[in-house]
Amino acid sequence: MRIRTSFWGFDNDNPVLFENALIEFDKLGNLVNINETLAEPSAESSTYIDMDDFLCLPALCDAHSHFAQFDIRGLGDGELLDWLRDFVFPGEIEMEDYNKAYNRAYLYFKESKKFGTSRIASYSTSGEIATDAAFKAAEDLGVRAFIGNSMSDENFAEELCKSVSENIAISERICNKWHNSNGGKLKYIASPRFAGSCSMKLMRACADFAKANDLNIQTHLSENKAELDLIKSRFPEIDTYTEVYDNAGLLGDKTFLGHSVYLSDRELEIIKEKESIIVHCPSSNIFLRSGIMPTRKYLDLGMKVCAGNDIGGGVSLSMFNEAKSIIESSKIYKTICDQEKKELNSVEALKMIYKNECFLEGKSTIINHFATGKELDLIFIKKERINFKKNIENEQNIASALIYYMANNYVDAVKIGAGKIEEIEKK
Ligand code: GUN
Ligand code: FE
Repeated sequence: MRIRTSFWGFDNDNPVLFENALIEFDKLGNLVNINETLAEPSAESSTYIDMDDFLCLPALCDAHSHFAQFDIRGLGDGELLDWLRDFVFPGEIEMEDYNKAYNRAYLYFKESKKFGTSRIASYSTSGEIATDAAFKAAEDLGVRAFIGNSMSDENFAEELCKSVSENIAISERICNKWHNSNGGKLKYIASPRFAGSCSMKLMRACADFAKANDLNIQTHLSENKAELDLIKSRFPEIDTYTEVYDNAGLLGDKTFLGHSVYLSDRELEIIKEKESIIVHCPSSNIFLRSGIMPTRKYLDLGMKVCAGNDIGGGVSLSMFNEAKSIIESSKIYKTICDQEKKELNSVEALKMIYKNECFLEGKSTIINHFATGKELDLIFIKKERINFKKNIENEQNIASALIYYMANNYVDAVKIGAGKIEEIEKK
C-alpha cells in the first residue's frame, strides 16, 4: 500500500514534517519507507492512495486507563479513596455480566479509536469475565491493547477482592488465552491494583508471574495524600511507597507506575535505577484533586515519563486532550509550586504521548516514526481543520494546532496494522 499525504512524526525524538510524503507499507502492514516526494503527483499517481488533503500522524497510544470506568467518568466530587468507594466499586462490580462488560469495552475502544488511539493499556476489574470480554471487544475492533485483571485481595470492595491463588489463577487463564493473540495486537499486562488493596504476598506472586511470562506490569503509585497515609498504615515497616513495590519485586524496566505525584528524591532514584516508567495522568490528577506532578523535575532528572488519561479519573478519551492537560498542569506547577520549572511546550507534550508506545512495546526509548520495518498505525486529519497552511511555519505551531484544535474532536481516518484506511464516523 502506498499513500500520498503530508506526514508529521518524530525522527530521533525530533518532530519532522514531510509536506509531500509517500508512505509505503508491505502486506503485513510494516512500514517500508516514508519519503519526501514531488509536490505534484507524478504519472504513477494512480498507484497511490491520495490523501493530499490530510495531515497524517502516527496513531496515538494511551498508557493508563480503566475500560470498566468508562460510564462513571466525571461523576462525584470527592477525592480518590471516597471516589473509589462511591463510584468505581459499583461500576466495576457490574462488569461481572459478560454482555455488559463486552458492550462497555466495545464502546470504549471504539470511541478511543475515533479520537485516533490505536493502542491502550487498560485495567480491567478483578474479574475473569470482564477481562475476557474486554479482550474480545478489542479483538473485534482490531485495536491493540494491553489488558489485565486488576488484582486486589484486601481492604477493597469485597466483591472485587480475591485470594492470592485465585488472582493468579485468573491471570494464568487469561494470559494463556489472550497474550500475543490477534497477530500480536493483544497483550496481557500484570495489574496489581495498588498497595492499598494488595497484600505483600499478592504483590510478590504477581511479580513472579510477570517475570516468568516476561510481561509488562502496571500499578498505581503515590497519587493522593490520604492514599499515602493508607499505605504507611498498611506497611509501617517500609520507608516509602516506592519501596513497598521494590520489596515486592514489582519494579523493573517493564513496570508502569501510574500518577507518581508525590515522590521523594530517594524514590525517584530507585525508580530510575530500576528503569521503571512513570505514567503521568494530569487530567485525572486534577479531576480527583490528587495533586500536580512535577513533570519538568522528573524530565530533568532523566526519568522515563509517558502519559495516560486514567478513565474514569480522567474524563476524555482523547490523547490530544491529555497533551493539553500535560501542558496546563505544568503551567499550574510553575505558577504555584516552583517558578524555576519551565512549563512543557506543545512538542514536548506530544513527545510524551508518543513515548507511550515506545515504552509499552519495549522497543527503543527514542521515538523513530520513520524507521523502516516497524508497524506504524496512522491517523488522518483534514488539513483545513487545523488551519494547516497557516500553522505550517514551525513545528511548535503544528503541535499546538493539533492539541488545541483536536482535543475535543474525532480524527477523520485511522489505519491500524495491515488494515485499510478506515473513515471515522463523526456521530
Ligand atoms: N488507585 C487504585 N485504584 C485506582 C483507580 O481505579 N483509579 C485511580 N485513579 N487510582 C486508583
Ligand atoms: Fe488509574
